[in-house]
Amino acid sequence: MKKFKGKVAEALVTALDEIAPSHGFSAETISDMFEYPPDDTMGDIAFPCFKLSRTLKKAPPVISQALASALKCDSIGKIESVGGYLNIYMSEQYLINSVLTDIESLGDKYGSLDIGTGKTVVLDYSSPNVAKPFHIGHLGTTVIGHSLRKLHEFAGYKCIGINHLGDWGTQFGKLIVAYRKWGNRESIEKGGIDELVALYVRFHSEAENNPELEQQARDEFTKLEHHDEENIKLWKWFIEISLAEYQKTYKQLGIEFDSYNGESFYTDKMPAQVEKLREKGLLKLDDGASIVDLEPYKMPPCLILKRDGSTLYPTRDIAAAVYRKETYNFDKCIYVTSAGQSLHFAQWFKVVELMGYDWYNQLVHVPYGTVSIGGAKLATRTGNVVLLKDLFNLAIEKVEEIMDEKNPDLPNKKETAEAVGVGAIIFYYLYNNRIKDINFIMEDALSFEGNTGPYAQYTYARTCSILEKAGSDLVHNKDIKISAPEEAELLKVLSKFPEKVIDAINEYEPSVITRYIIDICSAFNRFYHNCQILGAESDEIREMRLRLVSAVKTTLGNAFELICLKKTEKI
Ligand code: ARG
Repeated sequence: MKKFKGKVAEALVTALDEIAPSHGFSAETISDMFEYPPDDTMGDIAFPCFKLSRTLKKAPPVISQALASALKCDSIGKIESVGGYLNIYMSEQYLINSVLTDIESLGDKYGSLDIGTGKTVVLDYSSPNVAKPFHIGHLGTTVIGHSLRKLHEFAGYKCIGINHLGDWGTQFGKLIVAYRKWGNRESIEKGGIDELVALYVRFHSEAENNPELEQQARDEFTKLEHHDEENIKLWKWFIEISLAEYQKTYKQLGIEFDSYNGESFYTDKMPAQVEKLREKGLLKLDDGASIVDLEPYKMPPCLILKRDGSTLYPTRDIAAAVYRKETYNFDKCIYVTSAGQSLHFAQWFKVVELMGYDWYNQLVHVPYGTVSIGGAKLATRTGNVVLLKDLFNLAIEKVEEIMDEKNPDLPNKKETAEAVGVGAIIFYYLYNNRIKDINFIMEDALSFEGNTGPYAQYTYARTCSILEKAGSDLVHNKDIKISAPEEAELLKVLSKFPEKVIDAINEYEPSVITRYIIDICSAFNRFYHNCQILGAESDEIREMRLRLVSAVKTTLGNAFELICLKKTEKI
């Protein structure tokens, strides 16, 4: 569609040259003026002529009439002048020679862009807190973050994915105390992160009756900060145990990071920034703590140093941002976290600006809403939080049950069940506008009907099976043309992909892609139900339809990649 707009815009400029020689509009400006009509009986795109009426000193309907007769362009199939609008339809020739052939020649690059060439984006996402449960609250940062990474890569950006592990802070003091009191090596080696979490939970319940423990924890953390050998060893081990567990989830999702530099990595990088804050006169003492006053910006103060001189979450974020700018020279640094942290980011972004870093406006916070669980009940050993791995496992189990019933002979059943189960959760989650709070209902996510992951993956598998049956019949040698409205409709939907990628990037919104996948699936299934493909009336029609199926497979597959959905050839 972007390309179509470009072609029509050029033709419009030529037409304008004819009817109003000194109009002064460029094809680019014109291209930005197009609108999408509310329904497809009013054109594929519409041009609102009132945007020219001031310059041309003519009424919009007059301009639209004149342009309709002066406009010449092969890509256009039909033009209507309706009131002040020009309703423009794609020609069949354009749908075949441009949309279909572009998809065929670009293959897995179809939809990709070059807007990011030469630019670097750092993405900070997932970032769980070590030894605390990796729960459904992390689903958002993990899948939105990864999808934004894929989108930026697809648009030509160089991407650096950073897992800013929460691997520093007083929780380690607590864990060290709890481990020494109630833990042992064997049970942690066996139970992994769940054992660590259990120790952490126990610390909190015991500390309620024994406040002494809190002081002991602070002391152990101070020892850790001063590189006490024993504590450092334990701390490293806790991280190792936790990471091994996170990796399993990342593997299921197909996620890799370029860096696991967590909060502790910035310990030696903070003093320079604190010094800079002091030099700039930004630090103020407040009851012994050092803060940056943000009252003029209508925000509470940003805490930099505690009373005892220890650093805080914002201090580490500031040092990390400076380090990343110096190391990667990013054009954008994106942070994906729950909306609960919006104030934190607004505060320290402001502090970075006040420090005089001119790249402060390259820092972007991408917040998302909360997740709650309805429908299925999930039991966990850690009380009221639902672990991500339990959610995935439950979905996989349910898909296995459905498969045993519907398609017991499916090859690679385990693998497919994992792809569909995990995919269902990702899809359900990424279908909504990210900022919306969602209530997770497992039955809905797993349904093969409706706007779900299984429905999308099933549609993909359907394209694969048609192409497999057609075998070597898929030759590109006939003079094909469009013979059913469903074919044209489908090609029009496919033509929108590059623009959807841009929208998703501009809005930091993977749901644009998730919803677009459903648009493709619906158009494809309408086509599939109304048009004979393998048994088409003639060889030409059969070839056209098979090529369309193949184009759907390519586009769906490319879109799946962008939201971490696996391409399932058979379901
Ligand atoms: N570890 C934090 C949490 O789980 C998220 C970190 C986000 N990234 C950052 N640079 N602050 O809440």
